[in-house]
Amino acid sequence: MELFSVKEKTVLITGANRGLGKALALGFKKAGALVTATGRSVDSISWMKEAGIKGVILDVRDKEQVQTVMKDSLKETGNLDCLINNSGITAKTPMSLIKDSEVDDLLETNLKGLIHTSQAYYGLQKNKGGSIINIASILAHSVIPATGSYCASKGAVLQITRSMAIEWARKKIRVNAICPGFFEAGMASDHNKSVAVEARLKSTIPVGRLGKSDDLTGAAIFLASSASSYVTGQSIIVDGGVLSQIRV
Ligand SMILES: NC(=O)c1ccc[n+]([C@@H]2O[C@H](COP(=O)([O-])OP(=O)(O)OC[C@H]3O[C@@H](n4cnc5c(N)ncnc54)[C@H](OP(=O)(O)O)[C@@H]3O)[C@@H](O)[C@H]2O)c1
Repeated sequence: MELFSVKEKTVLITGANRGLGKALALGFKKAGALVTATGRSVDSISWMKEAGIKGVILDVRDKEQVQTVMKDSLKETGNLDCLINNSGITAKTPMSLIKDSEVDDLLETNLKGLIHTSQAYYGLQKNKGGSIINIASILAHSVIPATGSYCASKGAVLQITRSMAIEWARKKIRVNAICPGFFEAGMASDHNKSVAVEARLKSTIPVGRLGKSDDLTGAAIFLASSASSYVTGQSIIVDGGVLSQIRV
């Protein structure tokens, strides 16, 4: 078996109709994996067939739907080598103004949704082993203003990653996280649209550029492949050096 290969491996990626999840789906497909990707509407997944990706509808907040989708996926493929919990939402509210409903939404999707899919995966794979990759954020490690509820949800993702990793290790299910920094695509793109904001952001990134969508693929392939067979409970930071730097 090739060390870094995901060829013929079955991978399910949530929230992969657009943004970083779409790039992961296309990256895994290109690397030879058999990819199932989820979106929340028929329209959002319509591009997948032509790309050789199986598209399915899934809202991760709906526990019953999660169980059905995961079971159906397994029925078709016989094994689900890897689950990538990518779906997520964000919010930009100063701490003094955050409403309960915002915290509820963030936790429902970013934390509880991820628990739903991971538990379903565990139920199906506990006698076979596998790999779960949770897409967290550098904002699980550090914070920027007006993102408190998002940062809290992503901090929770890292702790849940560690908890699942140690509890499921004997079942040969590895659980790791990837922490992206500031990327061109996806949820940060609206924020980056202003030239001034983009320039300021870039100036905080040691490598001098925002992340490109496929900058996450290598880390994810490593965590999905046998190259990482002794790695669990960890997070890989993919941020062009942002978190390593104290700006003086
Ligand atoms: N972009 C960045 O710079 C960056 C940085 C750090 C971390 N991240 C993380 O990377 C992941 C992907 O983010 P992105 O930037 O690609 O964001 P995005 O473009 O906003 O995409 C988010 C994806 O999550 C899906 N989603 C939202 N709520 C869902 C739910 N309840 N059930 C299922 N799917 C749901 C969305 O589906 P719909 O299309 O239906 O809304 C969409 O496919 C997120 O976990 C995010 O926190 C991103």
